[in-house]
Amino acid sequence: MNKQVNKQGSKYRFFDLQPKTTDFHTEIIRGLGSTPRFIPPKFFYDERGSQLFAGICKTEEYYPTRTELAIIRENIDDIALQLGSGCLLVEPGSGESSKVRELLDVLQPVAYLPMDISSNFLQQEAQKLAAEFPWLDVHAVCTDFTTSMTLPYTEEGKQRIAFFPGSTIGNFEPDEAETFLRDIACMVGADGGLLIGVDLVKNSEILNAAYNDATGITAAFNLNLLRRINRELGANFDLDQFTHKAFFNRQKSRIEMHLVSQVAQQVSIADCCFEFAAGETIHTENSHKYTIEDFQDMARRAGFEPVKVWTDAEELFSLQFFSVNK
Ligand code: AVJ
Repeated sequence: MNKQVNKQGSKYRFFDLQPKTTDFHTEIIRGLGSTPRFIPPKFFYDERGSQLFAGICKTEEYYPTRTELAIIRENIDDIALQLGSGCLLVEPGSGESSKVRELLDVLQPVAYLPMDISSNFLQQEAQKLAAEFPWLDVHAVCTDFTTSMTLPYTEEGKQRIAFFPGSTIGNFEPDEAETFLRDIACMVGADGGLLIGVDLVKNSEILNAAYNDATGITAAFNLNLLRRINRELGANFDLDQFTHKAFFNRQKSRIEMHLVSQVAQQVSIADCCFEFAAGETIHTENSHKYTIEDFQDMARRAGFEPVKVWTDAEELFSLQFFSVNK
């Protein structure tokens, strides 16, 4: 990096709107006490979970990451044309910020706002990015974007575009997804836009393999939830007595992930006790798959107008651009 670039210096700021541990405790107790039992997937992402997810993205079977990246690379000129330049780019659930790196040079945003629930991971990744793009202002926001889309930083008169890659939208139930899209429309405002990655419906073999990789990293990611609950909430889950299960539920058009209790067992979390029957499951994630048409219909109901869709040759994955309906 030469001196001139350094002198300009990119602005890096960190905003902590982080949820408290009490929220984690309350949500875990509520989820485990429900029938059927569940844990919201946002809790996968402690520091280790974020690293495991980054590992999943590199597996042979997990096609979404590399396919989306290839779609971006192949269509970069058209994406730049559609989105224009000089926007304020907001990325909920930014993780490693790997895909946005492809966009920054061509979009030349006035600022980039990565948002993530995993505080240390976010700060490390955002600082790395700020160093790589010295001309760019980076405002990292630690937040649970499923409960708040508040922007702690904005610039008057700049178009706001939300970047929501990876099909993270698939984690929401369809009605929640619609509400979330409406929240995004509200956040980006009247002349705003949304560039979103949406995983597509396809044959079960490809889907099942993607969530049951041979190296077992997806299983480790799923089980890490129990490790986290043990550590942060003083629970005594025996990680050897639960197994990873993931399958495509075609009727609901989603991958379901569960943790299966291998035996009848009791688990305590601080002063709460939970009894698991042998074979009983904790539902830890849904990953909904859409057709392009169904997703566009949902986005329209949420206040967006479809502008452009890019896909790969096999139509495994889609990148879709919307503008807010005026
Ligand atoms: C980050 C929600 C998009 O659903 O594919 C990957 C998470 N879980 N493997 C997905 C995940 C298991 C991922 N999302």
